[in-house]
Amino acid sequence: MTALLEARELTKRFGGLTAVDRASLTVEEGTITALIGPNGAGKSTFFKMLAGEIEPTEGAVTFRGRPITGLGVARVCRLGIGKSHQITQIFPNLTVTENVVIPALAARRGSFRADVFGSIRRVDGLAELVARTLAEIGLGDRAGVRAGELAYGEKRRLEIGLALATQPQLLLLDEPAAGMSPAEIAETVALIQRLRAEVTIVIVEHDMDVVFGLADRIMVMQNGATIAYGTPEEIRADARVREAYLGGADDA
Ligand SMILES: Nc1ncnc2c1ncn2[C@@H]1O[C@H](COP(=O)(O)OP(=O)(O)OP(=O)(O)O)[C@@H](O)[C@H]1O
Ligand SMILES: [Mg+2]
Repeated sequence: MTALLEARELTKRFGGLTAVDRASLTVEEGTITALIGPNGAGKSTFFKMLAGEIEPTEGAVTFRGRPITGLGVARVCRLGIGKSHQITQIFPNLTVTENVVIPALAARRGSFRADVFGSIRRVDGLAELVARTLAEIGLGDRAGVRAGELAYGEKRRLEIGLALATQPQLLLLDEPAAGMSPAEIAETVALIQRLRAEVTIVIVEHDMDVVFGLADRIMVMQNGATIAYGTPEEIRADARVREAYLGGADDA
Protein backbone atom coordinates (compact mmCIF):
# COMPACT_ATOMS: atom_id res chain seq x y z
CA MET A 1 0.00 0.00 0.00
CA THR A 2 1.29 3.45 -0.87
CA ALA A 3 1.50 5.92 1.99
CA LEU A 4 -0.48 9.14 1.58
CA LEU A 5 2.63 11.25 2.13
CA GLU A 6 6.25 10.33 2.21
CA ALA A 7 9.09 12.73 3.05
CA ARG A 8 12.51 11.24 2.50
CA GLU A 9 15.64 12.68 4.10
CA LEU A 10 14.56 16.30 3.89
CA THR A 11 17.28 18.83 4.61
CA LYS A 12 16.93 22.61 4.64
CA ARG A 13 19.89 24.90 5.04
CA PHE A 14 19.60 28.65 5.51
CA GLY A 15 23.12 29.82 4.77
CA GLY A 16 25.29 28.11 7.36
CA LEU A 17 22.36 26.98 9.51
CA THR A 18 20.91 23.50 8.99
CA ALA A 19 17.30 24.01 10.09
CA VAL A 20 16.19 20.51 9.06
CA ASP A 21 18.70 17.67 8.88
CA ARG A 22 17.65 14.56 6.88
CA ALA A 23 14.20 14.26 8.46
CA SER A 24 11.89 11.55 7.08
CA LEU A 25 8.21 10.91 7.67
CA THR A 26 5.62 8.48 6.33
CA VAL A 27 1.95 9.38 6.82
CA GLU A 28 -0.72 6.72 6.36
CA GLU A 29 -4.21 7.73 5.28
CA GLY A 30 -6.73 8.32 8.06
CA THR A 31 -4.16 8.93 10.81
CA ILE A 32 -3.16 11.90 12.96
CA THR A 33 0.59 12.42 13.23
CA ALA A 34 2.03 14.94 15.69
CA LEU A 35 5.35 16.66 15.24
CA ILE A 36 6.92 17.85 18.49
CA GLY A 37 10.24 19.30 19.60
CA PRO A 38 11.76 22.33 21.32
CA ASN A 39 11.60 25.87 19.86
CA GLY A 40 13.79 26.14 16.80
CA ALA A 41 13.91 22.34 16.28
CA GLY A 42 12.87 22.75 12.64
CA LYS A 43 9.20 21.71 12.85
CA SER A 44 7.74 24.65 10.90
CA THR A 45 10.51 24.47 8.32
CA PHE A 46 9.86 20.74 7.81
CA PHE A 47 6.14 21.50 7.50
CA LYS A 48 6.72 24.22 4.91
CA MET A 49 8.64 21.74 2.77
CA LEU A 50 5.72 19.27 2.94
CA ALA A 51 3.32 21.99 1.79
CA GLY A 52 5.59 23.24 -1.00
CA GLU A 53 6.04 26.64 0.65
CA ILE A 54 9.79 26.25 0.61
CA GLU A 55 12.00 23.90 -1.37
CA PRO A 56 14.23 21.40 0.41
CA THR A 57 17.97 21.78 -0.05
CA GLU A 58 18.05 17.99 -0.30
CA GLY A 59 15.51 15.19 -0.16
CA ALA A 60 12.14 14.43 -1.73
CA VAL A 61 8.43 14.49 -0.93
CA THR A 62 5.85 12.22 -2.57
CA PHE A 63 2.07 12.47 -2.23
CA ARG A 64 0.12 9.33 -3.17
CA GLY A 65 3.37 8.09 -4.74
CA ARG A 66 3.74 11.17 -6.93
CA PRO A 67 6.83 13.37 -6.54
CA ILE A 68 5.81 16.87 -5.43
CA THR A 69 9.19 18.31 -4.45
CA GLY A 70 9.63 21.80 -5.88
CA LEU A 71 6.09 22.08 -7.29
CA GLY A 72 5.33 25.15 -5.20
CA VAL A 73 2.49 25.80 -2.78
CA ALA A 74 -0.30 26.47 -5.31
CA ARG A 75 0.15 23.19 -7.18
CA VAL A 76 0.73 21.19 -4.00
CA CYS A 77 -2.49 22.70 -2.62
CA ARG A 78 -4.44 21.71 -5.73
CA LEU A 79 -3.12 18.15 -5.41
CA GLY A 80 -4.70 17.95 -1.97
CA ILE A 81 -2.41 19.27 0.78
CA GLY A 82 -3.80 22.16 2.86
CA LYS A 83 -1.87 23.95 5.60
CA SER A 84 -2.74 26.32 8.40
CA HIS A 85 -0.05 28.69 9.59
CA GLN A 86 1.64 29.30 12.91
CA ILE A 87 1.26 33.04 12.27
CA THR A 88 -2.31 33.68 11.20
CA GLN A 89 -2.94 34.55 7.55
CA ILE A 90 -6.47 35.92 7.90
CA PHE A 91 -7.48 39.29 6.47
CA PRO A 92 -8.83 41.30 9.43
CA ASN A 93 -10.86 43.73 7.29
CA LEU A 94 -12.70 41.03 5.36
CA THR A 95 -15.61 39.07 6.78
CA VAL A 96 -15.31 35.50 7.97
CA THR A 97 -17.07 34.33 4.80
CA GLU A 98 -14.82 36.36 2.51
CA ASN A 99 -11.72 34.97 4.22
CA VAL A 100 -12.91 31.41 3.52
CA VAL A 101 -13.92 32.17 -0.08
CA ILE A 102 -10.39 33.17 -1.05
CA PRO A 103 -8.64 29.81 -0.46
CA ALA A 104 -11.73 27.92 -1.67
CA LEU A 105 -11.53 29.67 -5.04
CA ALA A 106 -7.74 29.64 -5.14
CA ALA A 107 -7.72 25.85 -4.76
CA ARG A 108 -10.17 25.47 -7.65
CA ARG A 109 -8.75 27.92 -10.11
CA GLY A 110 -5.20 28.39 -9.01
CA SER A 111 -5.90 32.05 -8.37
CA PHE A 112 -8.88 34.20 -7.62
CA ARG A 113 -10.30 36.94 -9.78
CA ALA A 114 -11.10 40.53 -9.00
CA ASP A 115 -14.84 39.79 -9.04
CA VAL A 116 -14.40 37.11 -6.45
CA PHE A 117 -17.04 38.27 -3.96
CA GLY A 118 -19.60 39.15 -6.59
CA SER A 119 -19.33 35.71 -8.15
CA ILE A 120 -19.80 33.47 -5.11
CA ARG A 121 -23.29 32.44 -6.15
CA ARG A 122 -22.19 31.73 -9.69
CA VAL A 123 -19.38 29.32 -8.81
CA ASP A 124 -20.76 25.79 -8.57
CA GLY A 125 -21.02 24.55 -5.02
CA LEU A 126 -18.96 27.41 -3.57
CA ALA A 127 -21.63 28.80 -1.26
CA GLU A 128 -22.26 25.28 0.08
CA LEU A 129 -18.55 24.66 0.60
CA VAL A 130 -18.16 27.93 2.51
CA ALA A 131 -21.25 27.24 4.66
CA ARG A 132 -20.06 23.71 5.41
CA THR A 133 -16.57 24.94 6.31
CA LEU A 134 -17.93 27.61 8.68
CA ALA A 135 -20.20 25.03 10.33
CA GLU A 136 -17.25 22.64 10.75
CA ILE A 137 -15.12 25.25 12.52
CA GLY A 138 -18.05 26.45 14.63
CA LEU A 139 -18.27 29.90 13.05
CA GLY A 140 -21.58 29.44 11.24
CA ASP A 141 -23.14 32.28 13.20
CA ARG A 142 -20.15 34.59 12.65
CA ALA A 143 -20.19 34.55 8.83
CA GLY A 144 -20.73 38.30 8.34
CA VAL A 145 -18.41 39.48 11.10
CA ARG A 146 -15.12 41.19 10.23
CA ALA A 147 -12.41 38.64 10.96
CA GLY A 148 -10.46 41.20 12.97
CA GLU A 149 -13.33 41.35 15.47
CA LEU A 150 -13.28 37.63 16.28
CA ALA A 151 -12.08 36.35 19.63
CA TYR A 152 -8.57 34.87 19.58
CA GLY A 153 -9.75 31.25 19.63
CA GLU A 154 -12.21 31.97 16.82
CA LYS A 155 -9.42 33.48 14.71
CA ARG A 156 -7.34 30.37 15.16
CA ARG A 157 -10.28 28.18 14.13
CA LEU A 158 -10.81 30.41 11.10
CA GLU A 159 -7.15 29.81 10.24
CA ILE A 160 -7.94 26.06 10.20
CA GLY A 161 -10.99 26.86 8.06
CA LEU A 162 -8.80 28.56 5.45
CA ALA A 163 -6.94 25.27 4.98
CA LEU A 164 -10.15 23.20 5.07
CA ALA A 165 -11.76 25.34 2.39
CA THR A 166 -9.21 24.02 -0.10
CA GLN A 167 -10.78 20.55 0.52
CA PRO A 168 -7.48 18.87 1.32
CA GLN A 169 -6.84 15.14 1.63
CA LEU A 170 -3.97 15.99 3.95
CA LEU A 171 -4.32 18.82 6.48
CA LEU A 172 -1.18 20.30 8.04
CA LEU A 173 -1.80 22.31 11.23
CA ASP A 174 1.05 24.38 12.69
CA GLU A 175 0.35 24.99 16.40
CA PRO A 176 -3.43 25.31 16.11
CA ALA A 177 -3.83 25.61 19.89
CA ALA A 178 -1.00 28.12 20.51
CA GLY A 179 -1.94 30.89 22.93
CA MET A 180 -5.42 29.52 23.60
CA SER A 181 -7.28 29.35 26.89
CA PRO A 182 -8.04 25.86 28.24
CA ALA A 183 -11.65 26.13 27.00
CA GLU A 184 -10.49 27.16 23.52
CA ILE A 185 -7.96 24.31 23.47
CA ALA A 186 -10.73 21.83 24.31
CA GLU A 187 -12.83 23.18 21.43
CA THR A 188 -9.90 22.90 19.05
CA VAL A 189 -9.18 19.31 20.11
CA ALA A 190 -12.85 18.44 19.59
CA LEU A 191 -12.74 20.07 16.15
CA ILE A 192 -9.66 18.07 15.14
CA GLN A 193 -11.29 14.86 16.43
CA ARG A 194 -14.31 15.56 14.20
CA LEU A 195 -12.07 16.29 11.21
CA ARG A 196 -10.15 13.04 11.46
CA ALA A 197 -13.13 11.18 9.94
CA GLU A 198 -12.69 13.03 6.66
CA VAL A 199 -9.06 14.10 6.37
CA THR A 200 -5.58 12.84 7.29
CA ILE A 201 -3.87 15.27 9.67
CA VAL A 202 -0.31 16.21 10.64
CA ILE A 203 -0.08 18.65 13.53
CA VAL A 204 2.78 20.61 15.06
CA GLU A 205 1.94 21.29 18.68
CA HIS A 206 3.65 22.15 21.96
CA ASP A 207 0.75 21.27 24.26
CA MET A 208 1.44 17.68 25.33
CA ASP A 209 -2.18 17.04 26.38
CA VAL A 210 -3.28 17.94 22.86
CA VAL A 211 -0.53 15.82 21.29
CA PHE A 212 -1.05 12.72 23.39
CA GLY A 213 -4.84 13.10 23.21
CA LEU A 214 -4.94 13.17 19.42
CA ALA A 215 -1.95 11.51 17.81
CA ASP A 216 -1.65 7.97 16.43
CA ARG A 217 2.01 8.58 15.68
CA ILE A 218 4.47 11.12 17.10
CA MET A 219 7.68 12.38 15.52
CA VAL A 220 10.17 14.16 17.78
CA MET A 221 12.62 16.66 16.32
CA GLN A 222 15.65 18.27 17.90
CA ASN A 223 18.23 20.45 16.16
CA GLY A 224 16.64 19.66 12.80
CA ALA A 225 16.90 15.90 13.15
CA THR A 226 14.34 13.24 14.06
CA ILE A 227 15.32 11.78 17.42
CA ALA A 228 12.28 9.51 17.82
CA TYR A 229 9.20 8.29 15.97
CA GLY A 230 6.48 5.97 17.24
CA THR A 231 3.15 5.53 18.97
CA PRO A 232 2.34 7.77 21.95
CA GLU A 233 3.23 4.87 24.26
CA GLU A 234 6.60 4.38 22.56
CA ILE A 235 7.37 8.10 22.74
CA ARG A 236 6.41 8.29 26.41
CA ALA A 237 8.80 5.41 27.14
CA ASP A 238 11.69 6.75 25.02
CA ALA A 239 14.57 7.69 27.30
CA ARG A 240 16.13 10.04 24.75
CA VAL A 241 12.88 11.95 24.28
CA ARG A 242 12.35 12.30 28.00
CA GLU A 243 15.82 13.64 28.47
CA ALA A 244 15.84 15.94 25.46
CA TYR A 245 12.32 17.23 25.47
CA LEU A 246 9.99 16.12 28.21
CA GLY A 247 12.67 17.03 30.76
CA GLY A 248 12.45 13.66 32.45
CA ALA A 249 9.12 14.80 33.95
CA ASP A 250 8.15 11.28 34.95
CA ASP A 251 11.32 10.90 37.00
CA ALA A 252 10.66 13.92 39.21
N1 LIG B 1 13.63 31.77 6.53
C1 LIG B 1 14.60 31.49 7.41
N2 LIG B 1 15.84 32.00 7.29
C2 LIG B 1 16.81 31.71 8.18
N3 LIG B 1 16.65 30.91 9.23
C3 LIG B 1 15.44 30.36 9.42
C4 LIG B 1 14.35 30.62 8.54
N4 LIG B 1 13.25 29.93 8.97
C5 LIG B 1 13.65 29.28 10.08
N5 LIG B 1 14.95 29.54 10.36
C6 LIG B 1 15.73 28.98 11.48
O1 LIG B 1 15.62 27.56 11.38
C7 LIG B 1 15.52 26.97 12.68
C8 LIG B 1 14.25 26.16 12.75
O2 LIG B 1 13.14 27.05 12.76
P1 LIG B 1 11.63 26.53 12.75
O3 LIG B 1 10.76 27.74 12.67
O4 LIG B 1 11.47 25.50 11.73
O5 LIG B 1 11.53 25.88 14.19
P2 LIG B 1 10.25 25.35 14.99
O6 LIG B 1 10.59 23.98 15.46
O7 LIG B 1 9.02 25.52 14.19
O8 LIG B 1 10.23 26.32 16.26
P3 LIG B 1 8.98 26.91 17.10
O9 LIG B 1 8.59 25.81 18.05
O10 LIG B 1 9.58 28.07 17.85
O11 LIG B 1 7.90 27.31 16.16
C9 LIG B 1 15.60 28.14 13.68
O12 LIG B 1 16.93 28.26 14.10
C10 LIG B 1 15.16 29.33 12.85
O13 LIG B 1 15.70 30.51 13.34
MG1 LIG C 1 7.30 26.59 14.41
